[in-house]
Amino acid sequence: MINKFNIKIITRLVLVATLMIYLNCKNDKQSYSEEIEVAENFTEDELKYRPLFHFTPKNNWMNDPNGMFYLNGKYHLYFQHYPDGNVWGPMHWGHAISEDLINFEEQPIALYPDEIGLIFSGSAVVDYNNTSGFSKDGKVPVVAIYTYHNMEGEKRGDIDFQTQGIAYSLDEGMTWTKYSENPVIKNPGIKDFRDPKVFWDNHNSKWIMSLAAGNKIMIYSSANLKEWKFESEFGEDNGDHGGVWECPDLFPVKVKDSEEYKWALLVSINPSGPNGGSATQYFIGDFDGHEFTIDDRFSKQLDENKAVWLDYGRDNYAGVTWSNISDTDGRKLFIGWMSNWDYARDVPTYKWRSTMTVPRELNLIKKNNEYILKSIPVKELNDFKSKTIEKDSIEPEELSKVIETAEIDFNKLNLEFNFKNLKENKYQIIFNNGNGDSLIIGLNNNSKTIYLDRTKSGKVDFSEKFAPNISKVKLSDMINDAKFQILLDKTSVELFVNDGEIVMTELFFPNNPLDQISIISEDSYFIIKNIVISELNF
Ligand code: FRU
Repeated sequence: MINKFNIKIITRLVLVATLMIYLNCKNDKQSYSEEIEVAENFTEDELKYRPLFHFTPKNNWMNDPNGMFYLNGKYHLYFQHYPDGNVWGPMHWGHAISEDLINFEEQPIALYPDEIGLIFSGSAVVDYNNTSGFSKDGKVPVVAIYTYHNMEGEKRGDIDFQTQGIAYSLDEGMTWTKYSENPVIKNPGIKDFRDPKVFWDNHNSKWIMSLAAGNKIMIYSSANLKEWKFESEFGEDNGDHGGVWECPDLFPVKVKDSEEYKWALLVSINPSGPNGGSATQYFIGDFDGHEFTIDDRFSKQLDENKAVWLDYGRDNYAGVTWSNISDTDGRKLFIGWMSNWDYARDVPTYKWRSTMTVPRELNLIKKNNEYILKSIPVKELNDFKSKTIEKDSIEPEELSKVIETAEIDFNKLNLEFNFKNLKENKYQIIFNNGNGDSLIIGLNNNSKTIYLDRTKSGKVDFSEKFAPNISKVKLSDMINDAKFQILLDKTSVELFVNDGEIVMTELFFPNNPLDQISIISEDSYFIIKNIVISELNF
């Protein structure tokens, strides 16, 4: 039914579509008939697909997380946002705040495009020592460092249409003033030159920026966030190069249970992810204040695998870490965009498009002489566990009954358990409903793979690229025992194996909610231990 409200929205969407042709944006215009469908689907969206414990913008388009910092009890999350349409368009920075990393409250838009360009991805830092000179009346400036994307330049065929700009806030990130001398880094003749991530290097007392530049990372330093000196570049011969490098993040990290410090460098790449489209690879090495070099041990890992991935699912992209987390907390807190450029604009939500991953803690471990950057959901998520059932062990066929009896809602499920005594066999965790939709997480010890199968998970035909295959991770060895944690929110599954040594994050759009689970195998001797099943309530 088209009511007054819908007509208003349709008119707005038509305007948006027109503006998008004009701007020759990243994606094509939608047809008028599609827009009518858009309006009619708004209500269905909310009920069926709006996630319960993952951040989504109230309306319209979102992509990368940007500018995350923590200050005075608040976790700030900015994001690539097109407030006037549900596909990618002229980029702004949207803003949301959380006090617990789970409930995010959307705020007014933080940064609008201006005469220099659209506001692409970047970061934000708290400038305690007022190195930037932006402080007034003793207020600590927060400084955002972002990419300007000049559409006119791009249309003209220029090569230097991406530059870096800064803005500052004297009210803890609520309102921003752009620096009058922008841009602070001009383009040296590199088409893809973007996504500055800045941190304060304590050892060398200067700001360090990692910046994606085509197929490499460029490192810059600065004393005041305004003047930047080129230091070095990294990566032309390392890792995966099947796509453009984007959204880097360089940070120090202690190797768990040791006194060893290393540096991690996250690099998102699109396309060329391990299961297609967008994904994030990482490198472990050292940084001397000028140059990042890969650790020898990690080089060997790269020789064997070409690239090492933070997440093997198809929906965790452009993720970076929060700045200004206190030393007493000491965690590396990460969030990613839970989508993939292969189909982000086609997913069947209309009122808004895109979701963030659950915030995660990154930890570096050394195992069998290899470095692994693990990700696990932040511990704050535990505070929302309700209706929790804990069992020492369980028969696989009992699991569904236990969940049913406890009336646990699969739409907000946290499931943890340990597999024991696995053999050379196949083990499947199947979530389904009475309508034939199923989502399968599998561990196959014959082919030594862990996989995620969303090919029959409901709506999949909105894009040929959404579910052409089953996503897989190759294991170096068969697994006998493993810890599984699975988070289900209406349209997403996040799998963490062995506290995040292997992670797979994917979206799915069931026709009806999933409400059954079974764990099956031809092996009748495997055991499921230490089960924790909780509904997550907010
Ligand atoms: C990554 C990305 C960034 C860019 C932004 C534009 O998803 O392409 O490199 O800054 O999105 O929205």
